[in-house]
Amino acid sequence: MRIDILTLFPQAFQALFSFGIFQRSIDCKLISLNIHNIRDYTHDKHHTVDDYAYGGGAGMVLKPEPIFEVAESITSDTRLEDKAGRLPIILLTPQGRLFSQQIALELSRYNHLILICGHYEGIDERVREHLVTDEISIGDYVLSGGELAAMVVVDAVVRLLPGVLGSEASTLDDSHTTGLLEYPQYTRPEVYRGWTVPQILLSGNHAQIAKWRREQVILRTLERRPELLDKANLSVEERRLVSRQKQS
Ligand code: 6GU
Repeated sequence: MRIDILTLFPQAFQALFSFGIFQRSIDCKLISLNIHNIRDYTHDKHHTVDDYAYGGGAGMVLKPEPIFEVAESITSDTRLEDKAGRLPIILLTPQGRLFSQQIALELSRYNHLILICGHYEGIDERVREHLVTDEISIGDYVLSGGELAAMVVVDAVVRLLPGVLGSEASTLDDSHTTGLLEYPQYTRPEVYRGWTVPQILLSGNHAQIAKWRREQVILRTLERRPELLDKANLSVEERRLVSRQKQS
């Protein structure tokens, strides 16, 4: 997958991409990440990226020209769309649709993404209307810029790409992939400060272990995020477990 990021703060991305799965994925050519400084696409002496809002009001607005020019420099240099001719150009903004594991999965199916990090009070509306194809927010709070949000989105998407994580199976059980939260995990030592590992996990009985884990998934989700259970795919027996638990 190729990912292009348009930002006023390219340095912000250096740390993220210099370790762990990003470093590995880049080295193995599973992803190519290109960070573009929007300021490099200005033509005036002062490299102006923002200006006052028409109509007045506090705060500066990002100008359209440099953003269109970066985007066009990317889209014109190669064949970037997928087979269906789609190339998402995503604006990170608190006004976007709320990011989720579902959206991460959806984005992981493209072979190219362009992310635009918003800043200041906003971005000229014509960027939204005539360039951007999607808008994403990572939560109901306001960040000072889209950079952290872009990193969140890129992290969640890249770890879903085939070959990026060690074992393909490891994303299948993730919290939220199943729509439910994950079961508790233990590793050695068997007793730590007198705290023991649940006996069932040491039994070697894989059917019983699977059953215990599934119960934990349901009980944990009920306790922490009960609203997730409404949409979850539960068996009749699992629904009964939920009602029993609610009554106790
Ligand atoms: Cl994508 N950008 C900014 N500036 N703030 C946010 C956000 C994005 N998502 C949540 N808050």
